[in-house]
Amino acid sequence: MQFELTEEQQMIRQAARDFAHHELKPGVIERDEHQKFPAEQVKMLGELGFLGMMVSPQYGGSGMDAVSYVLVMEELSKIDASTSVVVSVNNSLVCYGLEKYGTEEQKQKYLVPLAKGEKIGAFCLSEPEAGSDATSQRTTAVDMGDYYLLNGVKNWITNGNSASTYLVMAQTDVAKKHHGINVLIVEKGMEGFTVGAKENKLGIRGSDTHSLMFSDVKVPKENRIGEDGFGFKFAMETLDGGRIGIASQALGIASGAYELALNYAKERKAFGKTIADLQATQFKLADMATEIEAARLLCFKAAWLKDNHLPYAQASAMAKLYASEVAMRTTIEAVQIHGGYGFVKEYHVECLMRDAKITQIYEGTSEIQRIVISREVLK
Ligand code: CAA
Repeated sequence: MQFELTEEQQMIRQAARDFAHHELKPGVIERDEHQKFPAEQVKMLGELGFLGMMVSPQYGGSGMDAVSYVLVMEELSKIDASTSVVVSVNNSLVCYGLEKYGTEEQKQKYLVPLAKGEKIGAFCLSEPEAGSDATSQRTTAVDMGDYYLLNGVKNWITNGNSASTYLVMAQTDVAKKHHGINVLIVEKGMEGFTVGAKENKLGIRGSDTHSLMFSDVKVPKENRIGEDGFGFKFAMETLDGGRIGIASQALGIASGAYELALNYAKERKAFGKTIADLQATQFKLADMATEIEAARLLCFKAAWLKDNHLPYAQASAMAKLYASEVAMRTTIEAVQIHGGYGFVKEYHVECLMRDAKITQIYEGTSEIQRIVISREVLK
């Protein structure tokens, strides 16, 4: 068993850490307050090769491994989860499936600009009445011969407005249930495709989450990924990798809050000593450090399995379930350690607490992760 990072992985982590400190930290509180999308920062992340990290260089990517992806996601999320979610969705939910299942033509046309960070992608599965129950797709893609006629609404779509390329799941044949679902590549600007208002969210307020409306959108047949009816399996497999990204995001939110609490505890004086000298604080910090380390190991395990082409659905669900719960617990305790200062925006820790909550909801709630895990253990 090898617990040490390679020299290359350490360099990648350092690059992400430097970026987070120099480029994300300065405006993070303001972006959260005003729900401002981090457009400049995302552009720079593309130039650094972080938007198509795991895509082969042949298709404009950086050819890095999934362990490096965990490292980058942790470092960015320590400071700004609104930005890191763009990295996660573009890499895991959009580039991954296009590279694995796209045709050569689809890869050249759509994957290359996404992997280079010239364009951003979105993954469109959730609907007003199909969140956890993803097989109940109401959006329809009627087969019209050389194109699909797309109608319906998608909800809670990350990168909803900033994206140019959308992977949209839609039902073609209701009688076939989930075997009748297709995944189509939809471009912004296609006639009949409109983006709804930005959601006003509790956390990750900088990221742009929107509803999408499709009204008689003609999507060419060559924009379908995989065989007819492959859409649901495509979505499920894609989400397995996506959960490694969100688990690492949760890990980063937790470790960011922990670092703030640790530093504050060493400086803040009460009762004639620093609060780090009080056992009440020490026990909190010990629990936080232990849980964060356990979450990190689960993230690495899931990434390592993926890198080694071994099954990772259960491992990624475990990592996401545990890391997201650690993120919630840790950020609440970090606010508590800060006392009144934790409750005001300047200290940033309250933002991390609000951001933590979404990691228990998107890419499958904690309850969905438990379904995935329990099915595996009961097999
Ligand atoms: N990989 C490949 N195929 C899979 C799979 C996987 N991990 N999991 C299931 N499947 C296949 C099954 O084999 C089955 O195929 P067959 O019928 O051919 O055997 C088919 O999919 C249906 O599987 P289930 O019977 O298990 O389906 P289910 O209705 O019981 O649902 C579920 C399973 C795990 C609950 C699933 O619906 C699910 O994951 N729901 C949550 C969806 C989700 O995560 N949504 C998040 C939206 S995306 C998002 O948040 C992105 C963002 O913006 C950040």
